[in-house]
Amino acid sequence: MSQPDIQNAGPKIRFVNVYKRLGRQQILRGLDLDVFPGESLVILGRSGGGKSVLLKHLIGLIKPDSGSIFVDGQDISLLNERQLIPIRRKIAMVFQGGALFDSMTVGENVAFPLREERRYSEQEIQERVAEMLEAVGLPGQQEKMPAELSGGMKKRVALARSVIRRPEVILYDEPTAGLDPIMTANIDRLIKEMKKRFNTTSVTITHDMQSAFNISDRIAFLKSGRIQSVGRPEEILKSADPDIQNFIQGVADESDEAIQQLMQSQAS
Ligand SMILES: Nc1ncnc2c1ncn2[C@@H]1O[C@H](COP(=O)(O)OP(=O)(O)OP(=O)(O)O)[C@@H](O)[C@H]1O
Ligand SMILES: [Mg+2]
Repeated sequence: MSQPDIQNAGPKIRFVNVYKRLGRQQILRGLDLDVFPGESLVILGRSGGGKSVLLKHLIGLIKPDSGSIFVDGQDISLLNERQLIPIRRKIAMVFQGGALFDSMTVGENVAFPLREERRYSEQEIQERVAEMLEAVGLPGQQEKMPAELSGGMKKRVALARSVIRRPEVILYDEPTAGLDPIMTANIDRLIKEMKKRFNTTSVTITHDMQSAFNISDRIAFLKSGRIQSVGRPEEILKSADPDIQNFIQGVADESDEAIQQLMQSQAS
């Protein structure tokens, strides 16, 4: 993948010394991170380490206790709900769970964000919906109801709905978890396509190392509430850091297990 122009562009997203406590747990402890325009950044880290919490800060769902979060140079940690509206227009988050509107067809679900913008013709909406469904491996499924879909299919519809507006920034929270290898490759392709066609900046959380290396310009490793290392995939792979090496090894085992389970559940 092409390298983002890190030298000449200011960061699209910048976390500066962010601290966040939830309940009795100190989740983020002085986290710093820059994401550059058009960059695809992957975040790796242990389950429960604060990856989803980190992403939720970017759409103002969670506020930092201290520190700042800049989007295009604006500190969004100071904004109220009304002031966050334009930020949320700019940044789409594909949630780990990805709920659909159960009473709407797949096509209506995916079309929803475009209809809300009230500036597209019906024909344009239908074309974009068809294009998105194809991109997530569900061509021609417009008329299905969510109840008729498998978990993985629902997840892909939710993803299509999140990215159909072509937002400047997309946050993907485990977009391929629970998907089979072919669908995983499909979603990886979609993530790369959004970057290539629309210069989308993205932050993706994944436990799938193959995806991580496939889609990322850089990989950041979250540990103990901070970004412990960040670098190009090959640098991370070669890192002498035992935490990173253990993680890469451990995750590889974990995901193999997940694939095994998936194949077993499909066979039964
Ligand atoms: N709203 C909340 N209130 C209290 N604690 C929370 C809240 N959201 C998250 N946590 C806690 O913060 C920690 C980090 O959660 P987070 O969801 O960010 O983990 P994660 O790194 O995304 O893990 P996974 O890989 O399993 O998705 C967890 O211990 C979780 O229980
Ligand atoms: Mg998470």
